[in-house]
Amino acid sequence: MDLEALKKEAALRAVALVRSGQRVGLGTGSTAKYAIEEIGRKLAAGELTGIVGVSTSEASEQLARKVGIPTEPLDPRPLDIAIDGADEIAPNLDLIKGLGGALVREKVTEVQAGRLIIIADHTKLVQKLGEKAPLPIEIVPFGFLSTIERLRGFLPSGRLRMSGAQNYVTDNGNYIFDAGLPADFDAHELERRIKGTLGVVDTGLFLGMAERAFVAAPDGVRELV
Ligand code: 5RP
Repeated sequence: MDLEALKKEAALRAVALVRSGQRVGLGTGSTAKYAIEEIGRKLAAGELTGIVGVSTSEASEQLARKVGIPTEPLDPRPLDIAIDGADEIAPNLDLIKGLGGALVREKVTEVQAGRLIIIADHTKLVQKLGEKAPLPIEIVPFGFLSTIERLRGFLPSGRLRMSGAQNYVTDNGNYIFDAGLPADFDAHELERRIKGTLGVVDTGLFLGMAERAFVAAPDGVRELV
């Protein structure tokens, strides 16, 4: 089974938790895409009704519209559920997110969700965050070299994300510094320190946010809680 089939399997398991009338956070990335498509399919088939989607990126908003999910911008009302992918999943369901560049909108949206359901293929499982993926950190463009210098004071390895020859720009108009993580760190302390750095908007550390994860492997889908 290829990775795309696995991602879709995980997505279908998560969408099975969505009920008619719910406000649903729509994640971003190649795995979340399958969840958005499945919600659209269920709406078209009458298997779900009255869903309102809240998108975590321009790309997900466009896809939601294409597959017929009514959407609304985020407002202070809670979301019933959000479904999203991840770049790394630790055994306690702490996550690294943001290789797709949507970390800030994802965090701002998903913190309001009663349930955050993560969907992924088995390659995203790690024993410790930072094992495979860098930690994306969104920073404001103004003075970005100074912000990176400050970050390098305690995260010496890492680089500004590029898109071809240009700096990568998020939906919020910001840049991303992809930081290598040290071998040993306390995730909450690191999050506090990065967010306390002038010029930083937010990090791709999603700590204590996920309720469960559906992780698909060739021998089946594991549900982690
Ligand atoms: C985007 C994200 C994505 O959820 C994450 O990058 C996983 O993406 P994919 O499912 O394509 O591997 O955090 O900001």
